[in-house]
Amino acid sequence: MSQYHIKNFEEYFQVYKKSINQPEIFWEEIAEEHFVWHKKWDSVLEWDFSKPEVKWFEGAQLNITENCLDRHLANRGIKTAILFEPNDPNEDAEHITYKQLHARVCKFANVLKDQGIQKGDRVCIYLPMIPELTVSVLACARIGAIHSVVFAGFSSSALSSRINDCDAKMVITSDGAYRGAKTIDLKGIVDEALEDCESVKTVLVAKRIQSDINMKAGRDQWLQPLLDEAYQDFKAEVMEAEDPLFILYTSGSTGKPKGMLHTTAGYMIYTAYTFKNVFQYTEDDIYWCTADIGWITGHSYIVYGPLANGATSVMFEGVPSHPDYGRFWDIVQKHKVNQFYTAPTAIRALAKQGTSWLKDYDLSTLKILGTVGEPINEEAWHWYNDNVGNNKSPIVDTWWQTETGGIMITPIPYATPTKPTYATLPFIGIQPALMDENSKELTENQVQGRLCIKFPWPSMARTIWGNHERYRDTYFSAFKNMYFTGDGALRDEVGYYRITGRVDDVIIVSGHNLGTAPIEDAINEHQAVAESAIVGFPHDIKGNALYGYVTLKDSGESRNHDNLRKEINQLITDRIGPIAKLEKIQFSAGLPKTRSGKIMRRILRKIACQETDQLGDISTLLNPEVVESIIEESKAIL
Ligand code: PRX
Repeated sequence: MSQYHIKNFEEYFQVYKKSINQPEIFWEEIAEEHFVWHKKWDSVLEWDFSKPEVKWFEGAQLNITENCLDRHLANRGIKTAILFEPNDPNEDAEHITYKQLHARVCKFANVLKDQGIQKGDRVCIYLPMIPELTVSVLACARIGAIHSVVFAGFSSSALSSRINDCDAKMVITSDGAYRGAKTIDLKGIVDEALEDCESVKTVLVAKRIQSDINMKAGRDQWLQPLLDEAYQDFKAEVMEAEDPLFILYTSGSTGKPKGMLHTTAGYMIYTAYTFKNVFQYTEDDIYWCTADIGWITGHSYIVYGPLANGATSVMFEGVPSHPDYGRFWDIVQKHKVNQFYTAPTAIRALAKQGTSWLKDYDLSTLKILGTVGEPINEEAWHWYNDNVGNNKSPIVDTWWQTETGGIMITPIPYATPTKPTYATLPFIGIQPALMDENSKELTENQVQGRLCIKFPWPSMARTIWGNHERYRDTYFSAFKNMYFTGDGALRDEVGYYRITGRVDDVIIVSGHNLGTAPIEDAINEHQAVAESAIVGFPHDIKGNALYGYVTLKDSGESRNHDNLRKEINQLITDRIGPIAKLEKIQFSAGLPKTRSGKIMRRILRKIACQETDQLGDISTLLNPEVVESIIEESKAIL
């Protein structure tokens, strides 16, 4: 019999051991007993990290939406699947039952089909956090189209580069979005993006803010009239286990964003199994993850993981500060939330506002608190534990990535004793390794190294869309036969892991991964800029903020620096989005370089962090004299 639900620490160790010693038997039992298939697999796992190639459940046939919707209809038809909480607290929440969600997904699937979308086509979804987002994701999965959700905070050029990278045939968007007190003209952004996208034939537009928008004849169509006409049943496309389910873009340390490709069966099994255990979900619980579905957290733990378990998943359209800083707690009280999953940056932002925002709300329904996206600092951990959890709800600090598809290192609540700032132990089936700079595995405890994973797990990304070589180079070339995460970690005396942060040029700002290269490219477009380098520095709320060093061409030297700063940040907003704006911009006479001409970001990082006593040896630089002047100039910025 499979062990789908782990209830205590002994069980965790016992199940973990089995998952490592007999991974194929273990995952086969889970797959066999907890999911519905059109056809069972011929083999459970085939893998070769040197290619790299990983295949789970080859030969099996299924549709993930039958697992997330149809199979619940008999017993959970009237249970709420998606509980939609609008931006405006005065607008009614919407309880969408499994039966209703099934009907809406089927109608949408019919619309997609009528519009010429077929299995394997890419559909870009650029929507706010409204029910149509979940429905369109599942409708794509129902017909076998590959969804590529782009977070609705990205700019038009970020959107067009993602659409072009995967040759999307269709874009699904809305007339606009509510975000706190603001509205955002999403359709205008799409129109701008599509000026550069030949592949898009159709744009479906959901109505949300009732604004007057431009509809391009022959391309744009209002969604609702099409849905009204559509039939509410749709026979799900039968998919192969390794057929693509979705592409989700994530920043790399260099170059353009990477379209991580996730496939069907393994992703479904792992997100469902982690959801069940990491949140200890039981039938009547109300679960809320505050992420946006534009990120992997929303894909795996608002949509697929919860729905595969027949859970009630809250979907919140707004922001934690609107109409005031009590909004999250108002929602917890109103919907009697049992599991609450958020990001350290949100916790820090709320902690800064003080505990008075919590005191009027009843948070006693909370059983489990989660955090994800970046390392949580000790102060934020305690604030969360004391004030939100009232010292009784365990905090699950879940470490994972867009690439991993599901949670990798985490406590099991009420089983694993927690430790502030530690993600604790590997989840079932996960074999982490810490490596030193000589590619040697550090096998003992109390060590620090680069975090790798030694063995495949079902929900790992299979490739980077259109660029398998980059996939191999990025994740499988640093350490032989291992997946390299890009993170550093330490293991304490009992074997608990603490993630120390990125060891590459990715910077995590407010939980969002940002690569330095695209930001530098945007800055360098400014006609007064000669060169730039971005580093991260600690920030009390965002975790990290961006510090830009910019050298100017002669023509820029005489310009007003404050205006230049604004123009540079505007360029970044246009090219990437407001999340990538620089907190500080220093105009410097030069940048420290190696003799081969590479910018030494390590030194710039130390200066931005005000750790100039730890610069190390700078004598080998091409231009060591520049360092002193950068330190001097930085004093005016700090
Ligand atoms: O550096 C790690 C950090 O976020 C990175 C992955 O970012 P992304 O692909 O956007 O996915 C975020 C949501 C899963 C990781 O390489 N990270 C994520 N969770 C944690 C974390 N760092 C420390 N502790 C965590 N719990």
